[in-house]
Amino acid sequence: MIVEQKGYTGEDIAPPTMCYYSKLKTSGGYCRTCIVKVTKGSTANPTPMPKPVASCRTAVMDGMEVVNITSPEVLEARKGVVEFLLINHPLDCPICDQAGECNLQDLGYEHGLAKTRYEFERRTFDKIDIGPHIKLHMTRCIMCFRCIKVADQITDDRSHGMIFRGDASEISTYIENVIDNDFSGNVIDVCPVGALTDRTFRFKSRVWFAKPMDAHRDCKKCSGKVAIWLKGEEVLRVTSRKDRWGEAEEWICNECRFEKKHTSDWVIEKPTHIDRHSVISQNHYENLKDLKLDIGKQQKQLETK
Ligand code: SF4
Ligand code: FES
Repeated sequence: MIVEQKGYTGEDIAPPTMCYYSKLKTSGGYCRTCIVKVTKGSTANPTPMPKPVASCRTAVMDGMEVVNITSPEVLEARKGVVEFLLINHPLDCPICDQAGECNLQDLGYEHGLAKTRYEFERRTFDKIDIGPHIKLHMTRCIMCFRCIKVADQITDDRSHGMIFRGDASEISTYIENVIDNDFSGNVIDVCPVGALTDRTFRFKSRVWFAKPMDAHRDCKKCSGKVAIWLKGEEVLRVTSRKDRWGEAEEWICNECRFEKKHTSDWVIEKPTHIDRHSVISQNHYENLKDLKLDIGKQQKQLETK
């Protein structure tokens, strides 16, 4: 559902999502991050909905009116959702590879409390290598089901899922069995937190120190259109390109993602566009030209005063 409000459109005003992913069928409905208030059901039936609803699972009707960030009730309820998501999630952002591009980190800053009220022991898991390229850090998992949908819908043969129920739920380590599939690496891109990370990139650099560039190659398995993250001439990691919603534009294969780590493997197109709200955009070279022009103009103005 896309909500519009005076002066804002699309991603500026869309509710945050942790489990919904438009490219994955049946995703959404698990995390409740996207709750909104429906103040008018439709033109035919203007009755407001009695409680906040998960917008990713609510059908849009003609004349429907939806309130998101202007409703104190929604903001309060979302605060509660964030608190729940953070009950077991470790606050290890300083050492987590996902920091800087973590949906939960952003959500925590925007809607979370400064302190946790949770007094019980958090559940922890050992880290598991799921094949040579992916690390599963279950302690950070928020049970969004996206990786299961990827394995189910993008790879040929899903052999992992959520096992147990309630606070005992965990992603089954049978995920190891899908690792041979050419598209299994996409679970890294859809994971909203640092639960599934790229072993070829782990602890190599903070993402905001790397320079993302759009690049492509002639690939027989996927479109070959990716973002390569550079440090000097070194390709630190390869990811899918992200659209304005932060979702993968196209799924990429494991060969492109894990095996092509030289600039000579790629035709580099241009700096990847980074949203200005992202920490990765700080001093981003994409804007350097404009920045220099601006400084030049200001200097001239000072000289003529
Ligand atoms: S591992 Fe990541 S993608 Fe999979 S359910 Fe957990 S948080 Fe979601
Ligand atoms: S994004 Fe709607 S419930 Fe998770």
